[in-house]
Amino acid sequence: MGWIEFGHDDATSARISVLVEQIAHHSHLYYNEATPEISDAEFDALWDELKALDPDHPQLRRIGAPIPPGSVKVIHRFPMRSLDKATDDEEIAHFVAETTAHGRRFIAQPKLDGSALSLEYRRGRLVRAATRGSGERGEDVTSNALRIPNIPDRLSWEGDCHIRGEVVMHLDIFRTKYADIAPNPRNLAAGSLRQKNIEAGKGDATDLMFYAYDVLFIPDSEKHPDSPTALNFENDSQSISWLREVGITPATEVVIEGVDDDDTTQSLIAETIRWTNQRADAIWEIDGVVLKLDNLAKRELLGQTAHHPRWALAWKFPPEEATTVLLDIDWQTGRTGAVTPVARVAPVIVSGVTVENTTLHNVGEVERLGVSIGDKVRIVRRGDVIPKIIETLGPASMDDMQNRFHADGRSFSGPLPKNSAPEIPTNCPQCNTKLWLDGAFLRCDNLSCPSRLTRSILYWCRALEMDGIGEKLVEQLCDANLVTTMPDLYRLTTDQLLGLERMAEKSAANVMTQLEGTREMPLDAFLGALGLPGIGPELATAFAGEICTIDGLLSLNESDIERLVSIEGVGETVALSLISGIGARSTMVEDFGQILTITDVAKTEAPSGPLLGYTFCITGTLSRPRKEIALQTKAAGGKVVSSVSGKLDFLIAGENSGSKLDKANRLGVKVLNEAEWEAMLQP
Ligand code: IVH
Repeated sequence: MGWIEFGHDDATSARISVLVEQIAHHSHLYYNEATPEISDAEFDALWDELKALDPDHPQLRRIGAPIPPGSVKVIHRFPMRSLDKATDDEEIAHFVAETTAHGRRFIAQPKLDGSALSLEYRRGRLVRAATRGSGERGEDVTSNALRIPNIPDRLSWEGDCHIRGEVVMHLDIFRTKYADIAPNPRNLAAGSLRQKNIEAGKGDATDLMFYAYDVLFIPDSEKHPDSPTALNFENDSQSISWLREVGITPATEVVIEGVDDDDTTQSLIAETIRWTNQRADAIWEIDGVVLKLDNLAKRELLGQTAHHPRWALAWKFPPEEATTVLLDIDWQTGRTGAVTPVARVAPVIVSGVTVENTTLHNVGEVERLGVSIGDKVRIVRRGDVIPKIIETLGPASMDDMQNRFHADGRSFSGPLPKNSAPEIPTNCPQCNTKLWLDGAFLRCDNLSCPSRLTRSILYWCRALEMDGIGEKLVEQLCDANLVTTMPDLYRLTTDQLLGLERMAEKSAANVMTQLEGTREMPLDAFLGALGLPGIGPELATAFAGEICTIDGLLSLNESDIERLVSIEGVGETVALSLISGIGARSTMVEDFGQILTITDVAKTEAPSGPLLGYTFCITGTLSRPRKEIALQTKAAGGKVVSSVSGKLDFLIAGENSGSKLDKANRLGVKVLNEAEWEAMLQP
């Protein structure tokens, strides 16, 4: 594969080696020994020459001697202190009273629940990143920090400063990629940051984000002679805007200023309530709100204790754990037939939300926890909205039932149930079909089970974006026997709808319009909306690209396995789920085939060509529109993605390439110009 190497002639290669060696040597003297032998201008000349000859050379991403994460201690130039903590409103009032002599202007930021990181920039270049450690000494994690997508290796200000912030993993990434391997995003952030080798199945620093909350400037007496003078802001809010300007992502903040102590306290409390309410919607996990005096000179005057600064306060959310009493366990049959135990508990507030029901996941979990009805149980609610029972504390007493209130404020007065082991159902609680044990799950195999039917219909409506058809309506339709199979939905009449309780003409018309709007759909949408166990929208699309027609779908049988597993991302298990799923529903699928217009899907061409197996991203101005370059790349078997990550193989960069090019260089992604890309197209 000669085209994959971008060879240099011998003279150039020799020059590159010399430059690399010199840069490594002088970087070490400069950054690690602080005894530079050459001027900065000379150093920059070496750097620029290497960059011109080999823009992707790893030495350009490496500063000082390469250090494996965690093996070297870093003494923090400015200690990384903790924050004083508060959990109630009085402590906020106290904090305001203590600082009031210095003004009533505060900033409030979410307290991000991740891992603290200090970035040291020298002459605007990231030279070191260190964990908090003891606060005095942390660990060098520079190489991993450089992999975090929003940490720039250069600031647009060429001076000396330390930027502090929190490294977090966004909850969506945590949920989709890591929920099975780590208990929470915080552990992953800390682990990925300190990880020595990048291993599959562990956290990856490219999945982390850095949010800054502080910048400290190196005093002029210590700064590099060529660096600009330290900046001197009046307020923290100004330094936050500055961080944004130089290329750093700060944590979000609001400025709060009251007219007197009381007013200030109330406004700060209101801010803690605001975050309490929107905590569940936040993209990262937070454990409180940090309140800080905005004026930096006044912070100096207040000073700090050995432990924490006096000008800041961390208000923490009330504990996310709570104890309550397990009253009963209900078993619910879901769309795929899995029978889920739902715990009914005496009402309890967990992170601001009253919980009365909580999932126990599956029968395996009930057995693992060893819970009995009438037990006192511990409930936890983390970043995820669904609270869960984590342990039993043995039989509850009457005291455990006291002072409990429903979400609407009514007092709860249930009797304490007799302590008894939960009854594990042998038959479906809805249709009485005999259940079987599938791993940790109990399953009902009856496709016309009313519970499975309502869940499947709802799934169908969500998949096809019919938001006028909600849970209540679906239950009514099934209870009234108006719908006994999914295709029955399309046999409904306006009159039947109007006969239902609380159904006005307008909503009936809306439901009918939405149903009309989904009478025609391509095979991939149809297959996706069926909601077969184990077959989500992406697999549905992949299968549809192979099967193409509704007749093809209906005639599937075991002899098709080989054909199906040749689809990228499809293994034997899913192929079998599709075949048995359709087989078990053939009458319904045929019925749908009659009542709906299911259009054919074009066959997905098996990819081939010289670019097969490589991913590309395209940026900047090229001789032709980027779209054309993308089409040609795909035609040659390549995959085209829209963003740069560590997993990308090549960035095709034209004129005026901006942040994507910087990021590719930082992550060590190979960058191609148009000619190099064209050369790769040659078979
Ligand atoms: S200010 C002097 N702001 O909380 C300390 N800290 O409990 C200045 N944290 O070590 C810290 N979000 O890692 C600050 N918006 C925020 C924060 C925040 C999270 C962490 C930080 C610190 C710990 C203290």
